[in-house]
This record gives sequence, structure tokens and C-alpha cells, in this order.
Amino acid sequence: EAAAGPAIRRLADWSAADLTELADEYGTPLYVTDLDRVRENATRLQSAFPDADVRYAVKAHTGRAVLETVRDAGLGAECASAGEVVRALDAGYDEVQYTAVMPPAEDLDIVLDRWRDGADLTVVAGAGDTVTRLRDRGFDGRLAIRVDPGVGAGHHEKVTTGGHAKFGVPYDRAAELVNDARADFDVVGIHAHAGSGISGDDLAAHRELVSRMGDLARSVGPLEFVDVGGGFGVPYHEDEPPLDLEAVAEATRESLGDVDAELAIEPGRYVVADAGVLLTRVNTVKAVDDAGATGKVPVVAGVDAGMTTLLRPAMYDAYHAIRNLTDERPARPVTVAGPVCETSDLFCEERSMPAPRRGDLLAIGNAGAYGYEMASTYNSRPRPAEIVLAGEEARIARERETIDDVTALEVER
Ligand code: LLP
Repeated sequence: EAAAGPAIRRLADWSAADLTELADEYGTPLYVTDLDRVRENATRLQSAFPDADVRYAVKAHTGRAVLETVRDAGLGAECASAGEVVRALDAGYDEVQYTAVMPPAEDLDIVLDRWRDGADLTVVAGAGDTVTRLRDRGFDGRLAIRVDPGVGAGHHEKVTTGGHAKFGVPYDRAAELVNDARADFDVVGIHAHAGSGISGDDLAAHRELVSRMGDLARSVGPLEFVDVGGGFGVPYHEDEPPLDLEAVAEATRESLGDVDAELAIEPGRYVVADAGVLLTRVNTVKAVDDAGATGKVPVVAGVDAGMTTLLRPAMYDAYHAIRNLTDERPARPVTVAGPVCETSDLFCEERSMPAPRRGDLLAIGNAGAYGYEMASTYNSRPRPAEIVLAGEEARIARERETIDDVTALEVER
């Protein structure tokens, strides 16, 4: 079994020389994903939750090499769409969970085709209406009911799912739905998810969610599993402590109490976040006129990655550590800005860091989760390439898109 490694890999732990070599060879912007680190994170989760079924939320990073690495580490797969289900099955997962969120008809059709072909699928329905649509399509397989636990948590309100009417059936109606569904389906579990980016401060909310799920499980009788969701956070600030996974595991066990079912969790970010960095090259440097409060002249550094490459800062005001791999210079307030014509296209604003020069290479940390996955082609900007590292080997996992790729679906009249 692979060693689980330290609880967090900081940006400073990456070799500047190795990353620079990769950027020189493959160009920028470039995602670099370390598969050994993915395996360590997966292993650490399993040792913290030894008797739980750990299902990787593939939405955090669906690259084939990552999926295979996580599968080899023994985790299952949790999917949010037909596309993710197809990817997980193609990557060789033998048990796949499909957590249907407002499922488009085509998603249900594709997933149920796979089920008819013999795939071992569990469908999680978050609405009575979804159960009806599954029944209408002749599905009578493994079903779980997603519940709104009435309590949520997360790094931003945009990713706090618990307590929002969009997700799950109201807690008070869940037992009835489970019992009704038993007539037509093999009801194997109940499911809830608090949100994404849960920190040590959110432990009380996590306990509350788990204890409500324990109560529900006891009230509906035997189930195969109680899935209490994912959301385990990782530190994005370099001085933030890592989540105490053992404490979370202990709180989970304690709050769940005795239930006639296996515990299931579905973390995404925790598995891949610190296994990835984004490399980007400085192309423009300009000094701002006013010295400002610090007495140091702020600098705006333009880079070739933007909100189309890594959306999190623009979308959630998310903090990502940034390291200049080229040179260490005296710190000054630096704004790192992408090439997209939106003011939100910034990786940081007046952050104290060594002033970059044109040509410098910057590394952006914790880019492994929800990085490439949320990339877009806005501004007709091709999506970046991705390199995966395994031991001493580096290989291309996703080719850089070209402008021809971006326009390929355009239909001329
Ligand atoms: N299970 C369900 C039902 C989920 O909706 C999610 C995430 C997860 C598991 C995995 O959560 P994780 O362990 O990765 O926190 N794009 C956002 C995060 C969105 C999360 C959506 N759902 C971000 O970049 O912060």
C-alpha cells in the first residue's frame, strides 16, 4: 500500500526546476497533475475511514489517468451526469453511483442504457419526480434517496448545497418516499451532502447532518449504505492548517450512531486539489501610478492563464497561492491578471509577492480540483494542456486545444 504522505502538499514543495522544464517543453498555460499525490490522498482517506465506502466525486477532476489512479487505490466513483458515468465506467470502475441533479432526459436514457447492459449502477434521486421518471423508464435497480439535511456548509454560499431546495427531498418527507419506492426499486441507501470546502470550523454542521442521517436511517429500517456526502476541504492559504481527517472521521462515526448500514462518503476536492498546479507565463508587466498605503508601487502582471483556464478566483473569489518559479525578488503588491476582457479575470489583487518580470513562470497552487474541469473557451481561448506525473515519468494527458478545435462545431451556411 502506498504511503499516505503529509496531509497537504504546499506550493513550496514542488520542484521549481522540474516545473520549469515542463513549461519549457509543453508550453503554458499548463496543468500539471501528480498521480502519486492523488494516490496518497486517496489512501489517506481510506485509512481515516477504514470501514466506509469511499466514492470519489469525479467532477473534481475527470481526467482518465486520475480516474484510473483513484480506481486502483480502491475507491468507487460518484458521478453527477451521464458523461461522468460513461467516463467512470470506461475507466474501469465496477461500482458507479449516479447522483442525479435535475437529470435531463438524455442523461437518464444514457445511464439506464448502461444499466441494462449490465453496469453496476446505483442511482441517487433527489426528487420524487426523478423517482417517477426512473419508474416510467422501467428502472427497478439500485436506488438511493437524496435528502436535504436542512443544514449546509462550504467555502462559499455558491457551493453550499445542504439547506437549499434544489438538492434532495425535504427531510420530513424522506422516510415516506423511501418506503414508497421500496415497492418498485431496490432501495439501497440514503444520501445527503452539506456542500464543498468544509473546514474544521464546519464540524458542528457536519455532525448535525450526519446525526440527522443516522436518525433517518434508523426510522426507515435496513439499508445498504448511508452516504453523508463529500466536501472535505483543503487549505488554500499557505499558512492554513490541513483538515484533521481523523477528527472528522471520529465525529462522523459518533454522530451516525448505530445504524444497520455501511457509511459512505464521496469526497472530490480532497483527492485531487493539492495534486495539481497550474503553470502560467508572465507576458505583460505594468507599474501602477500611485504608491498606495504600503509605499510600494503596485504592479499588474499579465499572464497567459485566465478565468477560462482556472475559474475559481473569478467565480468564488477563491484564494490560490501563487509562486514565482523564475526568481525571488523583493515583495511588492502584485495583481496577477489573465487575458480575458473582464475585471473578474484576476488571480490575485495587490497581493504581496516578488514582483514578476515579463517571461517569468508562475505556479498557481491547489489547481487539481475544479481546475481543468471548469475551463471554458470564452473569448475563443483554447483550453490548456495537461501533463500527468507518475514516479519519474511525465506524459501528456490532455492535448492543448487549438483555435480550430474551438471553432470545429460551427456550422457554415
Ligand atoms: N457529492 C456531491 C453530491 C456534490 O455535489 C459534490 C460537489 C461532491 C460530492 C464533492 O465535493 P468536494 O468533496 O469536491 O468538495 N466548483 C466548486 C465546487 C463545487 C462542488 C460541487 N459539488 C469549487 O471549485 O469550489
